[in-house]
Amino acid sequence: MKPVNVGICGLGTVGGGTFNVLTRNKIDIDAKAGRQINITHVGARQLNPDCDTSSIQFSHDIFDVVNDPEVDIVVELIGGTTVAKDLVIKAIQNGKHVVTANKALIAEFGNEIFAEAVKHHVTVSYEAAVAGGIPIIRSMREGLAANKIEWVAGIINGTGNFILTEMRDKGRAFEDVLKEAQALGYAEADPTFDVEGIDAAHKLVILASIAFGMPLQFDKVFTEGITGITQEDVVYADELGYRIKHLGITRRRPNNGIELRVHPTLIPSSRLIANVDGVMNAVLVKGDAVGPTLYYGAGAGAEPTASAVISDIVHVSRSLNAERNNSDYDASVPHLGFASDHLCDYNILPIEEVETAYYLRISALDRPGVLSNVTQILSDAGISIEALIQKEPIDGQEHVSVILLTNRAVEKQIVSAISKIEQLDSVADSVVRIRVESLK
Ligand code: HSE
Repeated sequence: MKPVNVGICGLGTVGGGTFNVLTRNKIDIDAKAGRQINITHVGARQLNPDCDTSSIQFSHDIFDVVNDPEVDIVVELIGGTTVAKDLVIKAIQNGKHVVTANKALIAEFGNEIFAEAVKHHVTVSYEAAVAGGIPIIRSMREGLAANKIEWVAGIINGTGNFILTEMRDKGRAFEDVLKEAQALGYAEADPTFDVEGIDAAHKLVILASIAFGMPLQFDKVFTEGITGITQEDVVYADELGYRIKHLGITRRRPNNGIELRVHPTLIPSSRLIANVDGVMNAVLVKGDAVGPTLYYGAGAGAEPTASAVISDIVHVSRSLNAERNNSDYDASVPHLGFASDHLCDYNILPIEEVETAYYLRISALDRPGVLSNVTQILSDAGISIEALIQKEPIDGQEHVSVILLTNRAVEKQIVSAISKIEQLDSVADSVVRIRVESLK
């Protein structure tokens, strides 16, 4: 069979990893694809000293790759949503299949990009866009196709999980761990995307669309980062039998409203996902037939991400026919797992309507009646308390920490109760509130 020619755009962390793994494992990869997969053109601003590109056409203008008539698959690994978007659209219009690791691009412009791909009889594959090396897209689109998905919850940002793990296990400072994550190539070019949850939101939107069969709606995700998490809360969570993880959660409620949210979350320490540490990612998917399933692996880094990129290259290569007649190309797996004319515009619930349990930390004066005032406010709001810890005041301080776990309540109810608690004379500072999920 005729070889498949691959053009790689971008030779940074993921581009370099893709180049090296494709070169190193070429014999096996070709055998799996059933035809040779050759990197014939690389486009990047500069050479990567870790990649021997001396025998391959190299262009400083990445559009040379897209316009190369010999290239069958364009691999977009430059990141961002401006040049990358033009590049992908141009590649599609030139009749090329596209493989990308770009979650921001898919989350924000996927609807338009997929429509263009369908029009031009090519496919856009994006396994590496979510959870690095974990084959979660293919698992959900294909392996779980029988199921009505009830919810998905995942640790889908490696940098954030690395920071939370090091803070908890070694008491390290936030900034110090973030610098290490950057040095290891885990973090985004702008690391606020990692710590403020934007990166996780990009990935969650993609998972939600595949789970429920709806167009991508990035502007509807509720996003809260991990910068407000303190050692104190990490320790109290532990005492209560919980871990704090930065989760992306999407759930279908009985009325078909969809929850779509990224935030720090207390989860019971006994759950497998609570013990996913460091740069590792994990995604829990609950299907009505299969029940809960868990997918685990490295969520960032050069070669884990390359593993997912190359799985897409193999997938596309297998599906190309020998004559490379693009007009006959059958993208048998729809981009979002549901045929594009069967996608539904479900209602994404505003955060005020989301239902979850809560961890509250209240700083109160150590005087009689404080606890009963707080519990009265919660009880008036119909919120019951599942667990409570009150700490003795530290020497020299007159405030004590009261830590509560509530049962499930609608967000607007708890917000209103908290504002009443904060008005009590005996309560100092704002109440710390972290959402809690049992993930059963
Ligand atoms: N910055 C991302 C992370 C890279 O830390 O998860 C992988 O998408």
